[in-house]
Amino acid sequence: MRRVTLPGTDLKVSRLSFGTASLHHLPTSRQRQYLMATAFDRGFTHFDTAPYYGFGIAEEELGRFLRGRRGGTTIATKVGLYPPGGLHPNTASVWLRKLAGRVFPGISRPVVDWSISAASKSLDISLRRLGIDQIDLLLLHEPASGAVQSEVFMDWLKNEQRKGRIRAWGMAGQADCMDTWLSTNHPLGMVLQVRDSLERKEADLVTSHGRDLQITYGYLSSSAMSGTQPVVKTLELALRRNVRGSILVSTRRLAHVGELAAVAERADGETD
Ligand SMILES: NC(=O)c1ccc[n+]([C@@H]2O[C@H](COP(=O)([O-])OP(=O)(O)OC[C@H]3O[C@@H](n4cnc5c(N)ncnc54)[C@H](OP(=O)(O)O)[C@@H]3O)[C@@H](O)[C@H]2O)c1
Repeated sequence: MRRVTLPGTDLKVSRLSFGTASLHHLPTSRQRQYLMATAFDRGFTHFDTAPYYGFGIAEEELGRFLRGRRGGTTIATKVGLYPPGGLHPNTASVWLRKLAGRVFPGISRPVVDWSISAASKSLDISLRRLGIDQIDLLLLHEPASGAVQSEVFMDWLKNEQRKGRIRAWGMAGQADCMDTWLSTNHPLGMVLQVRDSLERKEADLVTSHGRDLQITYGYLSSSAMSGTQPVVKTLELALRRNVRGSILVSTRRLAHVGELAAVAERADGETD
């Protein structure tokens, strides 16, 4: 699979990035490890995670997977949204909350905290769980413009970059929630990871501000919901939409990993 340098950064990432938000739906660590190893073998080198995903399980599994492979990968994790029940839930309480959350959704909703003290603590824990000493990309997880103190955050991010704990930073979420930062071209938005779909083209807001698309996600899930066309066709069109960046996908099935990688190889082979 082709790799691209994310516009505006020196991060070299795979054309398709592997999302870990649904990794914990696989019941065993063995299955999760095998899925990520298959993705890596098929050319996925950029992995997206967050402390909120699986309430910590995703970062822990990714950390296990990275042992001996770190050199060939880039890793994004996030700050701002945290698991309910604290940053160190045990496995039993994760499953209890996830199950109870099906009946009472409030129980599994994230804790939102935009303080620098929470972000610092979370970064410490993410580095430890991932077993690495530097995060390639630290993203503000679905930031709300009124809640984030942009300049305070910028100082903290620059300081962490100076210390060598992060390489680059940015924001992840809906493009319309980033409008304030987009319209002022704020440096907090060095990398924008935005939800997009072929149906609504939400990421047009990013390009309307003269920015290249960097990381986009959500194409497969939204086309599955609208039931308009097969996944392969959706991904082909998404790759044509985000030409210079990376498309973040997720799957729990080995066969789907190969299918998605093959689409990217074919589509980029045609445009090279
Ligand atoms: N704020 C944020 O930054 C944010 C928000 C949401 C998500 N994300 C990230 O983006 C990643 C992707 O999230 P998404 O939900 O938007 O993912 P997506 O890739 O758009 O959709 C995933 C869905 O597509 C299905 N799928 C994948 N490959 C398939 C294939 N070859 N054939 C048929 N179905 C297929 C998956 O089912 P199967 O599992 O059955 O294959 C799953 O239901 C997440 O894991 C997370 O890392 C970030």
